[in-house]
This record gives sequence, C-alpha cells and structure tokens, in this order.
Amino acid sequence: MANKVIEIQDLTFSFNNVPVLSNISIDVERNDFWGIVGPNGGGKTTLLKLILGFLKPGSGLIKILETDPERARTQIGYVPQFGSMDKAFPITVQQVVEMGLTDSKNFFPWGQSKLRCKVNEVLESLKILPLRKKYFGELSGGQQQRVLIARALISDPEILLLDEPTSSIDSSVEGDFFTLLKSLCKEITILLVSHDVAFISSYVNKIACVNNSLVCHASNEITTPELISGLYKDSVTSIHHKCGL
Ligand SMILES: Nc1ncnc2c1ncn2[C@@H]1O[C@H](COP(=O)(O)OP(=O)(O)OP(=O)(O)O)[C@@H](O)[C@H]1O
Ligand SMILES: [Mg+2]
Repeated sequence: MANKVIEIQDLTFSFNNVPVLSNISIDVERNDFWGIVGPNGGGKTTLLKLILGFLKPGSGLIKILETDPERARTQIGYVPQFGSMDKAFPITVQQVVEMGLTDSKNFFPWGQSKLRCKVNEVLESLKILPLRKKYFGELSGGQQQRVLIARALISDPEILLLDEPTSSIDSSVEGDFFTLLKSLCKEITILLVSHDVAFISSYVNKIACVNNSLVCHASNEITTPELISGLYKDSVTSIHHKCGL
C-alpha cells in the first residue's frame, strides 16, 4: 500500500483570473493528521475542493491515492465548512448519517441490522446517540455539525477532510472530538481546517499555513504567540521556518 496518500505539485488555481492558490506543493502520508490554518480568504476551502475534484487546477498535479481526485472521491469523507443540508427537509439523524454511504464504495454493504449497529457506533463516538430518531432540522447548530461529521465517518473513508468542523461545538465536546480524530489517525489520514492553531497543535502532527501559497510546519514548532500570529500575517514568509517537511 502506497504511503503517499495525497500528492500535490506546483498547483495553481484562480477564480475568474484572480489567483487564489499559487505554487502549492505538499505530500500527505498515510496516517498523517494535518491542521490547515490561515487567514480568511487564504484558500483553505478551495484547496479541499481541489483535493475532492470539485474544482480543477489551473496548472500542476494532484494525485489522491495514486489516482485522479474524482476517482478517489469515494474514499474521502468530507465535512464542509457550512452544511448545505436543507434544514426544513424532514429527515432523521439516522437517515442523514446513512446518506454518507449512498455515494460511497460501501453502498449498504452490511444489511440492515449491521448498518444500524454501525450507525449507532459512530453516533455514540460523537455523543449524539440519543438524537438518532430526531429530525435534523430540530437540532442545534453544534448537534447538526456532529451529525454531519458522523455522516462523513460512516463509510470508513481512507481520507477525512474537515473544514472547520467544530466552529459550533462547545469546548467540552471539542476536546473529545479531537481525541477521537487522533485515535482515528491510526487507521486513516486527516486534513482539518481550523482557525484555532494553538488548540489543534496539540493534536495534529503537521500544520500547513495556506495564504495563497502554502508553508508547512511540524506541529511542535507552533509554540509561541508570535509564531501563531505570524501564521495570519499578510506575508507568510515572515514566519521562521525550520521544518524540513
Ligand atoms: N465560487 C467562487 N467564485 C469566486 N471566488 C471565490 C469562490 N469561492 C471562493 N472564492 C475566493 O477565493 C478566495 C479563497 O476562498 P476560500 O473559501 O478558499 O478561503 P478560506 O481560506 O477557506 O477562507 P475562510 O477562512 O474564510 O473559510 C477568496 O478570495 C474567495 O473570495
Ligand atoms: Mg473556508
């Protein structure tokens, strides 16, 4: 099994001739847990959409699991930044989570009772099992976010992309959630977009700062307040980089 799960070389991307990402190169290895940080509009969500094959690069190479992003998409669990689920649609939590299987490699592979067990297991791990029969539209923002995370996890993806998944989750659950992600990393590879660099640096093992270009750090380098604020400056080159990633 190849160790390189995501390979990006010299990627550039523009929206309407306005450059959003320039000269992006990164190798993501199996079982890596990357934190992706950077200022608003820096291109983090755009990078995830390129990895998913929803957007096409202007130039450069993207290989996911040694194939094209579109072909690899069924191996990727994705939690978008803003859930696009119609809140008024009468669908239960259980059904939302099961939807994570319909477009995946595992279209209901287990039969109904095993499927129920699997859904319960994922809901339990996110502490939302008691909400299983509730309508999605009746849940709070943080509860809905956790259901969408469960939907991304249910197909046992090889790669999990999370775009600010905990922005509506209270801090007591957030710590548990990150501990869960860290344990999942023994099996899968995770890219997590977050604005909370200080918090995530104790969970992730690598950090990429995306601000049009991309700069990598080992997470144990993100130690000082100056460095953290440096990640959000206009010019990422002002940061002292010493990791050889
Ligand atoms: N569909 C689109 N059409 C045109 N421009 C877009 C589109 N989507 C994003 N952009 C622009 O691309 C740039 C990068 O946006 P992106 O959403 O990737 O940033 P981000 O790093 O995820 O920001 P945030 O932290 O606010 O989520 C921004 O300047 C944004 O205005
Ligand atoms: Mg974004």
